[in-house]
Amino acid sequence: MTGSVVRLAALSDIHYSKSSQGSFLPLFSQIAEAADVLLLCGDLTDYGLVEEARLLAKDLAPVKIPMVGVLGNHDFEAGQEQDIAKVLTDVGVHMLDGDTWEYRGVGFAGCRGFCGGFGRGALGPWGEKIIKDFVHEAVQESLKLESALARLGESHRIVLLHYSPIRATVEGESPEIFPFLGSSRLEDPISRFDVTAVFHGHAHKGAPEGKTQGGIPVYNVAHAVLKANYPDRPPFRLFEIDMSNRGDQGVTPISDRRSYGRRATDRQAPDQQSAGHAKPT
Ligand SMILES: [Fe+2]
Ligand SMILES: [Fe+2]
Repeated sequence: MTGSVVRLAALSDIHYSKSSQGSFLPLFSQIAEAADVLLLCGDLTDYGLVEEARLLAKDLAPVKIPMVGVLGNHDFEAGQEQDIAKVLTDVGVHMLDGDTWEYRGVGFAGCRGFCGGFGRGALGPWGEKIIKDFVHEAVQESLKLESALARLGESHRIVLLHYSPIRATVEGESPEIFPFLGSSRLEDPISRFDVTAVFHGHAHKGAPEGKTQGGIPVYNVAHAVLKANYPDRPPFRLFEIDMSNRGDQGVTPISDRRSYGRRATDRQAPDQQSAGHAKPT
């Protein structure tokens, strides 16, 4: 099994502020021990200040596993999103904005996404120009994701977003704000390209897991969601992809263990082995 499994750790909405330096260091160190790749799904800063990003970058610098991420709405608050992305890129985070990245046969596609609501309740481009512009942003993010996914040739395709593509993982928030938590326009490319799993954040009081209409697993990995739903675990989620069965696109949990043990490139214990699945926990 050695080397045939890729472990993904996923986390979002850490909202680094000017007083956050060092606060996530122990968690990042734990993640680096347990996973092969760290996924960061936006709202990495609190007020969108490049100064906040620099503090986060300092804490990420010792993380010696590959990292991949997207920005969230908070990272746009001060108009410094490009500088934030550069600071994080400089410490090795592969920042995706309609881009792709590949690691050991696993393809990643990502963008921030946008809001607008879900299903029949989704806002349509009709009436005032400002409404059309609002909807246009959601459509553009969906197109970004589609073109990124179209460039991925890997058998396992992982999507990173900040906003949710489905309603199920925002359940728990007040229904009045559902339309501001995601857009089902993002679900279309995910379904079309038979994605292995989707990770997002943003809905701090949402649900940790859901599925697209076609059954693709969607995980809300917002820090607050993980703390609320898994109080006995470290606040990140760990997923395992078994690369020995490249035809399998499934995703299933590893376990509910408190300790995640060693990362996937190390030998796996028998209870961690399972054929042909990518597995979250
Ligand atoms: Fe957030
Ligand atoms: Fe957010």
